[in-house]
Amino acid sequence: MANLSSNFIGIKSPNPFWLASAPPTDKKYNVERAFEAGWGGVVWKTLGAEGPPIVNVSGPRYGAIWGADRRLLGLNNIELITDRPLEVNLQEIKEVKRKWRDRALVISLMVPCDEESWKDILKRIEDTEADGVELNFGCPHGMAERGMGSAVGQVPEYIEMVTRWVKQYSRMPCIVKLTPNVTSILPPAMAAHRGGADAVSLINTVKSITNVDLDHFSPFPMIDGRGSHGGYCGPAVKPIALNMVAEIARHPETHGMPISGIGGVTTWRDAAEFMALGAGNVQVCTAAMTYGFKIVQEMISGLSQYLDEKQMSLDSLIGRAVPNFVEWQHLNLNYVTKAQIDQDACIKCGRCYAACEDTSHQAIAMGPGRTFAVKDEECVACNLCVNVCPVEDCITMVELPKGQVDPRTGRKVGDYADWTTHPNNPMAAQAAE
Ligand SMILES: Cc1cc2nc3c(=O)[nH]c(=O)nc-3n(C[C@H](O)[C@H](O)[C@H](O)COP(=O)(O)O)c2cc1C
Ligand code: SF4
Ligand code: SF4
Repeated sequence: MANLSSNFIGIKSPNPFWLASAPPTDKKYNVERAFEAGWGGVVWKTLGAEGPPIVNVSGPRYGAIWGADRRLLGLNNIELITDRPLEVNLQEIKEVKRKWRDRALVISLMVPCDEESWKDILKRIEDTEADGVELNFGCPHGMAERGMGSAVGQVPEYIEMVTRWVKQYSRMPCIVKLTPNVTSILPPAMAAHRGGADAVSLINTVKSITNVDLDHFSPFPMIDGRGSHGGYCGPAVKPIALNMVAEIARHPETHGMPISGIGGVTTWRDAAEFMALGAGNVQVCTAAMTYGFKIVQEMISGLSQYLDEKQMSLDSLIGRAVPNFVEWQHLNLNYVTKAQIDQDACIKCGRCYAACEDTSHQAIAMGPGRTFAVKDEECVACNLCVNVCPVEDCITMVELPKGQVDPRTGRKVGDYADWTTHPNNPMAAQAAE
């Protein structure tokens, strides 16, 4: 069994699976059961400054979207940071850390954006023996309106300033949690880097409205006839998160900065994908809230088996796909594939035909007895048919070997050539002159 032990910015855990700061980590009772189930670490539910406790709504907190089988695909919430007293949280954190020395315990923090507030909270958490802090600059609802959370995460200068305070007033490793509610993730990540952050974690939730109640004409979740935007998470946000993680991992200014990958991680495969794109570990929220703590066992055994099969170490997986994440202009324009239908697997539903005929390239013929065949002379290899086909692997994309004539263009498949050297590219022509 592959060794999954992880060392993320000096914080050791028996595996790279941490629970993200959220309801699963908001009290000792939860965190202990999570550790019993096998989670390598947790980021405790965000603590705020001392004072009157946070007040949550007492109506529904969640909106959701589901797949056709009612599997939860996306969850939207309007919950705030912890509504439990600071003292109680600190006492519980101390007790849990003493008992579970081999697990990672990071404290998430969100306090007003002034030096005294940060200095004060850092002092309060000092003797908990927690392994590090995560700065919640990501929450898009409730706290942002009070000048915290994503209101800080959207202004790189604030990120840098607060990170500097945290590094000045604490010796703990500092993870800056980023919001995806920005046009580019790079300026916030660079600001965290400049401020001295040991790592970034992303993504926090995406500002969203999942649905509207059409009887009461209010966004959902509806609280007494009104709704507010929430933060979106779960499998639906994974593509956004993967791209943002990879952008940070490959940019020269942020390359090499440790990243904790968050957003829709549900299986070992999701985790491996985040790690291949540069994440040093992953954090999970929605999947644990949907399926319970024990899903970590599937993640542990799946990742371990994958690494064994590949004969790879966990460390060598991290960032492995980053060099292959390139700009469009560096894609091989002489790579040619054609769709191919496995007639034995086909259930003759006709979805591929409808999709290609109506919205793509009219490259699938319907024959007698509802047989479907690809017309190579029309197929542009978009792979829409693969994606709409209900039978997995029924349609595959098959590469044409070098030298073979592509019946669509009448040209032989040539050597690697991308847009940077293509004759239709005016910039390429200028460069060649
Ligand atoms: C109900 C709920 C409460 C959350 N509370 C916090 C929080 O207090 N602090 C924080 O940094 N992130 C919070 N998050 C965001 C998660 O930590 C995580 O970044 C996000 O859900 C994406 O991960 P996922 O797709 O695995 O759920 C919360 C998420 C949910 C669903
Ligand atoms: S790959 Fe695209 S163009 Fe080719 S058959 Fe499928 S849908 Fe049509
Ligand atoms: S979508 Fe798939 S199963 Fe349906 S007709 Fe096309 S190839 Fe056959």
